[in-house]
Amino acid sequence: MNNLLLTALNKKYSLGAFNFNNMEVLQAIIEAANEQNFPVIAQISKGAIEYAGAEFMKGLISAGKKMAQVPICFHLDHGDSLELVKTAISIGCDSVMIDASALDFESNIKLTKQVVDYAHKRDIWVEAELGKLAGIEDHVKVDKKDSKFTDPKQAQEFVKRTGVDSLAVAIGTSHGAYKFEGEAKLRFDILKKIQKLIPKTPLVLHGASSVSKTAVDKFNSLGGQLGNAKGIPEEMLKKASKTNVCKINVDTDLRLAFTSSIYEYIKNNPKNIDPRKYLQYAKKSVKDVVISKIKLFGNTK
Ligand code: G3H
Ligand code: 13P
Ligand code: ZN
Repeated sequence: MNNLLLTALNKKYSLGAFNFNNMEVLQAIIEAANEQNFPVIAQISKGAIEYAGAEFMKGLISAGKKMAQVPICFHLDHGDSLELVKTAISIGCDSVMIDASALDFESNIKLTKQVVDYAHKRDIWVEAELGKLAGIEDHVKVDKKDSKFTDPKQAQEFVKRTGVDSLAVAIGTSHGAYKFEGEAKLRFDILKKIQKLIPKTPLVLHGASSVSKTAVDKFNSLGGQLGNAKGIPEEMLKKASKTNVCKINVDTDLRLAFTSSIYEYIKNNPKNIDPRKYLQYAKKSVKDVVISKIKLFGNTK
């Protein structure tokens, strides 16, 4: 991971970091990376480990590493304790995130430093987070009114005191399908100040799904109810990928593609009872999304 992010920092592109919970989505991520001949980050949350079970997740990671023909980093997303970090490393993660951003500044530093000390002894790269993203996910709950952009000066102090390798910053992105009520806006001015103070630290954007109108319309037309869900426009992500942002996290867009395809397949094939048919169809749609993100973030399209 170290080399991957530092190369991205030097060459001014971003790696896509894609969440998976099951075999099909992991296969889609790896097949997309292999076909594009471009590295990716495949990441698991606490919820993913709970869903699959640590032993099954270990098996998936081990099989995934064998399938990879390009560098693929397996990463713990939003780790909330040293115990979870230890579990993630023991099942094959090459890199971990400790997300203590909900804690006060000093407590965030303390827990992050503990994780850095543990992980660096084992050659594991550590991502931390400073600032708060709005939005709600299973294990990532932040009230909208608590949403707080990253303070550039604090970011500088945080990196210096923790020795963390990469930093997730809050500049207006948020988790889930509903990111903006009105116009989409990211604080590139804050991002610029952060990268000026910590120019050697790869930055990470969480909550970066685009939730495109096309995808939402398709989902709604199949009977889904996503209303006017809205994400980060592609041109903003492209702009971010050319800054010190080196890792862009995407989960919601994969969920949307996977679930839409299952609805679609079942609607069009009412007699089918073989789960492999719709899972294979859903896997292909996730792979298409991953390919498009790799091109967008890697500046190859
Ligand atoms: O940022 C969070 C990811 O989308 C993972 O979500 O905790 O529901 O697995 P999860
Ligand atoms: P999205 O909900 O925008 O896909 O964000 C995913 C994420 O940040 C995972 O850590
Ligand atoms: Zn996240």
